[in-house]
Amino acid sequence: MTITYSALSLDTSEKSRGQIDGEIEAIRKLVNEHLSEPYSVYVYRFFLNNWPELCLLAKSEGNIIGCIISKVETHRNTRLRGYIGMLTVTEQYRGQGIAKKLIDKSLDIMVDKKCDEIILETEVVNKKALRLYENFGFVRVKRLYRYYLNKHDAYRLILPITDKACLRSTFLEKLPEEKCIEARY
Ligand SMILES: CC(C)(COP(=O)(O)OP(=O)(O)OC[C@H]1O[C@@H](n2cnc3c(N)ncnc32)[C@H](O)[C@@H]1OP(=O)(O)O)[C@@H](O)C(=O)NCCC(=O)NCCS
Repeated sequence: MTITYSALSLDTSEKSRGQIDGEIEAIRKLVNEHLSEPYSVYVYRFFLNNWPELCLLAKSEGNIIGCIISKVETHRNTRLRGYIGMLTVTEQYRGQGIAKKLIDKSLDIMVDKKCDEIILETEVVNKKALRLYENFGFVRVKRLYRYYLNKHDAYRLILPITDKACLRSTFLEKLPEEKCIEARY
């Protein structure tokens, strides 16, 4: 079976508003079904409206069977920080390298956008996800006590891209305004 990979498009000259809303709803359902944390529709809208190019979808026969949702913002006005917010693959498609491919593509885009570092959080008990990300070079930097609503702790993981990732922001020069990326709310 062929799996195709593409970014979410919000372009109304390609698709109708109804089709776009349908796709966003399918993404929301897929992620909410598999992640322990229930996110409101506003969280999805925040990520997808600001960074549709970082919402990557894996499809089989036109159906969404996996997705990764990320963002890029300026951190403390000193560096660009990529953030992987959600990653999920439908059960029957797991173990075929789909998550690896989604992460790989997302990292490429964030590196192209000149991110200095990429971070994420995952549950301490999610051994699969930890192994998956650590194989990409992510390292654990913090344990966040009772971070999730289910009371599980999280690890914050970081993938340093540039030297800036290894310096505290107090020691870094402020980025010029034109290089800062801020979300629209
Ligand atoms: C985690 C998840 C996204 C992995 O998706 P997947 O498409 O099956 O992953 P892949 O096939 O690309 O596997 C990649 C790597 O994950 C790890 N992995 C996958 N299945 C594993 C298992 N059963 N046990 C341990 N590690 C496993 C391995 O490192 C594997 O690489 P390898 O095959 O080279 O050893 C999927 O299980 C999922 O959607 N889980 C629920 C949601 C979730 O936990 N998301 C991550 C939270 S941030």
